[in-house]
Amino acid sequence: MNRFSFFDALWTQYLELTPQASAIQALFASNGAEVINDHVAFRTIDAPGLDLDTAVGCFESIGYTVFDTYTFPDKHLDALALCVPDDPSAPKIFVSALRRGVFNREIEALLDRLIEPANQPLTLQSFLGSYPFTKPSWPEYNALANVSEYAAWLSTMGYRANHFTVSVNHLTQFASMDEVISALKTAGYRLNTVGGEIKGTPADLLVQASTLADQVSFVFSDQHEASVPSCFYEFAQRFATEDGTLFQGFVPNNANAIFDSTARQ
Ligand code: NI
Repeated sequence: MNRFSFFDALWTQYLELTPQASAIQALFASNGAEVINDHVAFRTIDAPGLDLDTAVGCFESIGYTVFDTYTFPDKHLDALALCVPDDPSAPKIFVSALRRGVFNREIEALLDRLIEPANQPLTLQSFLGSYPFTKPSWPEYNALANVSEYAAWLSTMGYRANHFTVSVNHLTQFASMDEVISALKTAGYRLNTVGGEIKGTPADLLVQASTLADQVSFVFSDQHEASVPSCFYEFAQRFATEDGTLFQGFVPNNANAIFDSTARQ
């Protein structure tokens, strides 16, 4: 599997759980826009074989290199950004991981039990839609979500693209993020409003917005069936640094709010 076949398979798999993404892409394309991915995001947990080091090894196999690191203390997350150094047109990868040892004993024991079957290290294939966990019960899911919506999302969705991100810089028919948001709202899409619809300012060199995640039905271990958040679509506009090139990193305050796109609604 090379980088191109990986992203083709990832996009196909993502659309199965995120129908809004194909509709939004069609909306942009109907205006004549070329839809280019700024980045794709993945989630995992700090445990042997599942941690950020393991994930990085998977992405290195298709040409990626880590170029920045971030921490999100409020959400108990660490994250890395990766790029393909010799191909700036490649989508960046943002991969985050839930910290362990920060929750109470009951939650830690629950996390231990849910991830216990994951005894094989992650591979690149794992990120194309895999679920190496034990399912939580409905009460366990809610207990997890009450301390970490991120953990609850991982406990139902497993490994897949959490979101793709449209490069607003390439949407030449939209002059600003405001216009993109206006088009999305006119078409009836619900946006993540945590920290405002637009996260960041041009002074941050990165402005972002995102939809709320689609919902899918999930059958819990106690046979309770409920709708849970699946995946969402993000929009990013980058601004030039002092040397005239577009900023390529991420802004922790923005990302902290974007994580909430998969919170229970
Ligand atoms: Ni993102």
